[in-house]
Amino acid sequence: MNSFGVGLREHFLLDERLVFLNHGSFGACPKEVLEAQTVWRTRMECDPISFMMRVLPVAIRAQAEGLGALLGARGKDLVFVENATTGMNAILRGMVFEPEDEVLTFDHLYTAVDNTLDFLAKRIGFRLVRAKFELPLTNPDEIVAAVTSQITARTRIAVLDHITSFSGIVMPMEKIVAACHAKGVPVLVDGAHAPGMLDLDIERVGADYYVGNCHKWLWAPKGCAFLHVQPRHQADTHPPSISNYEAQGYPTNFDWTGTKDPSAWLSTSAGLAFHRKLGGRAVAEYNHTLVVWALQMLSEALGWMLVAPMEMIGSIGTLRIPKSEGSTAEDAAALHDYLVDAHNIEVLVHAHDALYLRISAQVYNVRSDYEKLLTAIKAAQSENLC
Ligand SMILES: Cc1ncc(COP(=O)(O)O)c(C=O)c1O
Repeated sequence: MNSFGVGLREHFLLDERLVFLNHGSFGACPKEVLEAQTVWRTRMECDPISFMMRVLPVAIRAQAEGLGALLGARGKDLVFVENATTGMNAILRGMVFEPEDEVLTFDHLYTAVDNTLDFLAKRIGFRLVRAKFELPLTNPDEIVAAVTSQITARTRIAVLDHITSFSGIVMPMEKIVAACHAKGVPVLVDGAHAPGMLDLDIERVGADYYVGNCHKWLWAPKGCAFLHVQPRHQADTHPPSISNYEAQGYPTNFDWTGTKDPSAWLSTSAGLAFHRKLGGRAVAEYNHTLVVWALQMLSEALGWMLVAPMEMIGSIGTLRIPKSEGSTAEDAAALHDYLVDAHNIEVLVHAHDALYLRISAQVYNVRSDYEKLLTAIKAAQSENLC
């Protein structure tokens, strides 16, 4: 395989004119993984009954074993879901809450999960407690303290991102889980970005429930994510669609949730093979080094604030844009659209208490991609777009 950088673009379908600095949102699937997916689809359509009834149940479990071997988990504790959003919904909407319960989270939660919690809080009446932390963070222990200080006798569960979506901060999850468990609070971790970006060991993190995506940083086709549930909770865990094999319990009840195309799940091993071919851990190391360089370069050139120490960053990182340069969702959309339409640069711009620019680094990126971004941002500033 080629060394990291522009040469690797040939392994992807990415438009060659695009400066792609947002691997984080939806990933970019390698051609050879898409080809493996086509092989599975063809096999399925050649003999649909036999495939669904006999091949699929065994093949899914084999994929779970392979994934678990990389992520420090037993295959039988892992089930596949379409995406992190579905995994989070399976746990939250399947859980029995009382109106007097409190659900603890923090205020950087991914929108879909925040909406799920809001929906449930309104329907059931429980109190949603959002731990707040100030940016820039200077120390991971600030997060541990922010979360644990909000635990009360009514806290039913803590729902936390392992890597925050718009701010790209790697949370000290092992410490947070241990602190919550010490107070008797179970933890649901949304690790949407963690597999492939971190050297993730799910058992070491120790959460009660852990959700992760394979379609972001583990090269799987879109629609491939997983849920890990500790054995003590498995009898009470159900898929969002209760289906034919509910009586058989976890994990079989998740392996079949009605007719659908399972080829993305079955291509997990092809994604893992691509990851190994690139050098496994070397991928995250390259990405981290590149994104740290880019963040520091952009921060120095623009005077935009880094939100966390570089040890709390993986392969995505964020700069806070001064409020004088915009703060609304419309401002965020205007800057994003200008960067795509005028400069072919795809990057995330998010409005929270201010605007945040989130960049990703992936093996096909090089320093000049971020230098092009800097030039484009300066052009946007001269047009008063930020
Ligand atoms: C923390 C977090 N959770 C959930 C998601 C949603 O992932 P998916 O679209 O695979 O459900 C994202 C997407 O970026 C995320 O950052």
